Amino acid sequence: MGATEAPPALKLGVQDAIAGLALSTEAHWNQTEEDWRIFLRDGIVFGIRDGARLVATAALLPYSGNNAWISMVLVSATHRRRGLATRLVDACLDTARKNGLTSWLDATPDGAAVYGPLGFTPTLQLRRLKLARPARAEAPPLSLATLDALAMRDRRASGFDRTALLSAFAQRPGSRIVGTDGAIALLRDGRTARHIGPLLADDTAAALALVDSIVRSETSPLLLDAVASQAAFLEGLTASGWTVERPFQRMRFGPATVTGKESPFAVAGPEFG
Ligand SMILES: CC(C)(COP(=O)(O)OP(=O)(O)OC[C@H]1O[C@@H](n2cnc3c(N)ncnc32)[C@H](O)[C@@H]1OP(=O)(O)O)[C@@H](O)C(=O)NCCC(=O)NCCS
Repeated sequence: MGATEAPPALKLGVQDAIAGLALSTEAHWNQTEEDWRIFLRDGIVFGIRDGARLVATAALLPYSGNNAWISMVLVSATHRRRGLATRLVDACLDTARKNGLTSWLDATPDGAAVYGPLGFTPTLQLRRLKLARPARAEAPPLSLATLDALAMRDRRASGFDRTALLSAFAQRPGSRIVGTDGAIALLRDGRTARHIGPLLADDTAAALALVDSIVRSETSPLLLDAVASQAAFLEGLTASGWTVERPFQRMRFGPATVTGKESPFAVAGPEFG
């Protein structure tokens, strides 16, 4: 593919899950093949190929109430700064516009440089935190909570009905919905680390207590995407060994359609919001 050629943006199918995974793995992201299948099956994924090789993607996942989540904006290092991400996000926005959808995304700093000029406006900020080595310790077993309870509380916080998405996560081997007094969270496998989120809680103490009991039950590395305005939660995590890996900036394109009735402590992940 020469620098001046303009290969078409194609709609990808479920058979492209492995090629998509190669791109997210190249970027050291945590998505699994199953995550890609959600976007390819329930959303619209645009891609650009160079010969047979998939070199760029962007996904639009419809959410309830005329909303959509844009994610998996990935361009292989060999093909950057040729406008591919801009074209693919434009294709997502065009689809959103035709369907009357407001688009949301959680941007990496590199991504924010692409989305700002396209007309996205910043909303809240997130911080990706990692715990490299949780030390399993003597602790009472985690108490399991129901999908209904999680979906209801997630809806209050996000404004979206994501029962189907949360149910798909919960059905994977290795997933657990866990709860303690005043807090509930989903734990699922990722490519390199287990992911905690969404995490909803009555207050910081309940959120930190739930994270602590998850940490005591795990031996794999853990990730979570905390809402930056939950400052005491972030302080509590960093004091107990979690490190901040990177920021994400939530951005919106289109009219404000939803306002959560409570702030989550951690979101489902930047790719899902
Ligand atoms: C972010 C990413 C998708 C950009 O892809 P791309 O195809 O290179 O982006 P574009 O060529 O469309 O860039 C459009 C404009 O955005 C800005 N931009 C893009 N990447 C940038 C970077 N790394 N730093 C600063 N500005 C950048 C520039 O203004 C660029 O225009 P220019 O090249 O004429 O200066 C790509 O770098 C990538 O895959 N990064 C790793 C994964 C990631 O962070 N994805 C975003 C998730 S939200």
